[in-house]
Amino acid sequence: MDTTRELFVEEVSDAYDAEHRFLTAMEEMQGKAEDAELKKGITDHIAQTQDHIEWLGEIFSRLERKPTRKTCDGAKGIVADGQKSVGEVGAATLRDSVIAAGLAKAEHYEIATYSALVAGAETMGNEPMAQVLKRILGQEQAVAERLGRAAPTLLKKAADEESAPR
Ligand SMILES: [Fe+2]
Ligand SMILES: [Fe+2]
Repeated sequence: MDTTRELFVEEVSDAYDAEHRFLTAMEEMQGKAEDAELKKGITDHIAQTQDHIEWLGEIFSRLERKPTRKTCDGAKGIVADGQKSVGEVGAATLRDSVIAAGLAKAEHYEIATYSALVAGAETMGNEPMAQVLKRILGQEQAVAERLGRAAPTLLKKAADEESAPR
């Protein structure tokens, strides 16, 4: 690949794969989470992620390409890492904190991805594409913030439970 446009197509394909991987991982974590607020947060972002997949589909059509997934090793690693960490924790509240922290990592990864894609679309002078990507980026940022707040709160709750008399 030698052009900014080709690079952009590759990066969109990478993000398209990442979204699918994160969607599957969130569906799995939704079943494992016990805290009601965390569960709700995951449910909401599953719906947003389905939108992201659809909106990336629009980007592909603007690029006159068929939606294609290019293996995102970053997302693959983040998911594998998260699954491993969650599997290592037995206590429910502590596990919830690990789930929230793992999902926050995924969101921060997506923030970096979409920041780069927005820059790419703007560099190509394609404002409609930049707008769609900014909309996704805004949702990833809001969720990262929400999960970033939930993780320490759940961790604190887990610590309180540990020190409570049984
Ligand atoms: Fe997303
Ligand atoms: Fe996300």
